[in-house]
Amino acid sequence: GKMSKLFIIANRLPVTVEETAEGNFYRQSSGGLVSAISAYLRLEDSNQFTKKIWVGVSECAERVWASAESVTPPEYDFKPVFVPPKLYEHYYNGFSNSVLWPLFHYFPSFADYQPSYFEGYLKVNAKFASELERILDPKDTVWIHDYHLLPLAAMLRKKFPQLTIGFFLHIPFPSYELFRVIPREWQHELLSGMLGADVIGFHTEDYLQHFLTSVRKVIKARIDHRTISWDGRDIQIGDFPIGIDYNKFQGASSDHGVLTKRSEYLRSKLDKRLIFSVDRLDYSKGVFNRLKGYREFLVQNPHYKEKVVFALVIVPSRDTISKYAERKKLIDEYIGNFNSRYGNINWQPVIYQYGHLSFEELVGMYTACDLALITPLRDGMNLVAKEFVASRRDRQGVLVLSEMAGAANELTEALLINPNDRKEIAKMIKIGLEMTPDEQERRMTAMQKRLQEYNVVTWAKEFFTALARISSEQMKKE
Ligand code: UDP
Ligand code: G6P
Repeated sequence: GKMSKLFIIANRLPVTVEETAEGNFYRQSSGGLVSAISAYLRLEDSNQFTKKIWVGVSECAERVWASAESVTPPEYDFKPVFVPPKLYEHYYNGFSNSVLWPLFHYFPSFADYQPSYFEGYLKVNAKFASELERILDPKDTVWIHDYHLLPLAAMLRKKFPQLTIGFFLHIPFPSYELFRVIPREWQHELLSGMLGADVIGFHTEDYLQHFLTSVRKVIKARIDHRTISWDGRDIQIGDFPIGIDYNKFQGASSDHGVLTKRSEYLRSKLDKRLIFSVDRLDYSKGVFNRLKGYREFLVQNPHYKEKVVFALVIVPSRDTISKYAERKKLIDEYIGNFNSRYGNINWQPVIYQYGHLSFEELVGMYTACDLALITPLRDGMNLVAKEFVASRRDRQGVLVLSEMAGAANELTEALLINPNDRKEIAKMIKIGLEMTPDEQERRMTAMQKRLQEYNVVTWAKEFFTALARISSEQMKKE
């Protein structure tokens, strides 16, 4: 391909500044988008670009950001966009996370269609466009990520007709029956915004088909298989299931810090079996279904009392949105009741942490547990499931996974469950805890092979190959 700079454009920057009494410090931002893209930018393959620049919104004020500037990772630059708090509220808490997120995850009743949200959303997208205009060269490659920035590609296309633009959606694209619930004008704006890109990527074939249906219904574009012709250009759409840095997780299981954590966890669980889960605080993650399935398991199998513990970690997320704050309270209460009702002085059935995990703690848990219990009601992909599998160099451990996660398409040797079926969750916990080591190894080996082959580099390569193809065809036409 041509030598160019790569711009990664996402709402979330790879690092977040935390303001504390001891000062301001950086940590890696949470979530699958940051995990995957920052992993790719650290790997050799991304050096095909002359420069890598990540542009995203800063959650803190310019002054605070400047106080911590020195930690820019050497692999790439990043550039914060500063958005006034009130506007950010409408764009992020409002349209992005109280309209698009609930609707695209099949929670239509949680969506709040305030016009001011949509106006704020467009304004922030326009702000991205104008900031980018100042630093972009028409030969650069721009890769826009996720639902916060659906209108951006078309905004950039207006200014730079020749620019190579990719767009990737990290969450599900819902059935048209959900998408149509959005006011008609907004539907058009969102879809035509995405169509400003040269390539539009989704995690699965289903999401892609839903998108095509919506385009067909809302926009008078010509569609031929996976090419959309609109506004005088061809747009390629494709499914690219996002991967992980497989080697990093395989290798981590022998990392000193990880081993220390792992033995700490093994020591404190004693002879008990260990179930583990970690997700951001989010109603889409199915935490209640999970706890109810676990309770069902304990009720049906009383001989497991005092012989099993469930370590449940919730990573703080979006907690200034009421639906999220409420959830936090409900989970706290539920776990309190659970432990007092089923536990005793010697034993707590659920160990609960609300906080971030370091990489060592995360992989320490992945490698110490007997079973990972991942039960989202909807999840675009779910990287936690993939990371757990990749971490198990011992090829032991069982994955219980919701069929509503994109990852279930690839991790077919997991024990798949319907997250609304408590009895099934209970049954699979039992089957998982009693699975023979040979059977665990057989399943792990098959899943690991797939994750190793289709990792985050393969994912990015396929996306860039599609992008190179379409932009060279575009150039031939001109
Ligand atoms: N993760 C994190 N902080 C933590 C624990 C986990 O950032 O304290 C990471 C985890 O390693 C994974 C990502 O968060 O890469 C979660 O991605 P996933 O696709 O499972 O869900 P998302 O949060 O994007 O909905
Ligand atoms: C999901 C979204 C990402 C987002 C992440 C964390 O993975 O697809 O775009 O960054 O959740 O959520 P947050 O709102 O903290 O960025």
